[in-house]
Amino acid sequence: MQTQKLETERLILRKLKLEDENEIFNNWTSDDEVSKYVRWSIHKSIEDTREYLKNVMETYKKEKNAEWGIVLKETNELIGALGCFFNDEENRYEIGYNISRKHWRNGYTTEALKKVMEYLINEEHIKSFICSHAKDNPASGAVMRKAGFKYVKDDTYEKFDKSQKFDCKVYYLEAINLTKRSK
Ligand SMILES: CC(C)(COP(=O)(O)OP(=O)(O)OC[C@H]1O[C@@H](n2cnc3c(N)ncnc32)[C@H](O)[C@@H]1OP(=O)(O)O)[C@@H](O)C(=O)NCCC(=O)NCCS
Repeated sequence: MQTQKLETERLILRKLKLEDENEIFNNWTSDDEVSKYVRWSIHKSIEDTREYLKNVMETYKKEKNAEWGIVLKETNELIGALGCFFNDEENRYEIGYNISRKHWRNGYTTEALKKVMEYLINEEHIKSFICSHAKDNPASGAVMRKAGFKYVKDDTYEKFDKSQKFDCKVYYLEAINLTKRSK
C-alpha cells in the first residue's frame, strides 16, 4: 500500500518525515488529552516522537501499512496523522487517527478520513476495514459514522504498554456499503 499524497478542500495528506518531529511533538504526541484513549502513550520528550517517526519510516517499506500526516493548506501546519495497518486477528485493515487539540471540532478528521477511505477503496482496492474507539471517547465514533463505518460489537483494547484497558465500540466498513451509499 502506498501513502500517496492526497488533497481535500482544506487539507494536504502526505507522508511524515523525520524533520516533522518538533511539530508532531508540540501539536499532539505530548498532549495528555490526545493520548488519553489511544494505544500509544504520551511522549515525554522529543526522543519519543523521534522513535515513533523512525517506526513510521519502517512502516513505509511495508506492504500493509500507510500513515498520512494531515497538513492545513492555509497555514502549512502539520495538525495530525491518520494511519492504516492490517489487523491479522480481524483479517481487515484498521484505521486510526489523532488531531492536535486546538484543531478539534473543525471537521478536519472527517474530511481526511473520507478522502483516505476513497483512496484505499478505489486505488488500493481494499474492501474490509475496522476502526474502534473507547466508549468514553465518542468524538472518534462520530468521525467513523460520518465516514460510513457501521457499529458491529463491543470489545476491549489495551495500551501498547498494557498500562490501561478500555471498553470500546468496534465499527466495520465494507466497501460495498460505501458504493451503495454514494449512488
Ligand atoms: C477523535 C478526534 C480525532 C476527532 O477529531 P475532529 O477533527 O475534532 O473531528 P471532526 O471535527 O471531524 O468531528 C466529527 C464529528 O465528531 C463529533 N465530535 C467531535 N468532537 C466531539 C466531542 N469532543 N464530543 C462529542 N462529539 C464530538 C462532532 O459531532 C462532529 O460532527 P459535526 O461536524 O456534525 O459537529 C480528535 O478528537 C482527537 O484527536 N482525539 C484524540 C485522539 C483520538 O481519540 N483518536 C481516536 C482514537 S480511536
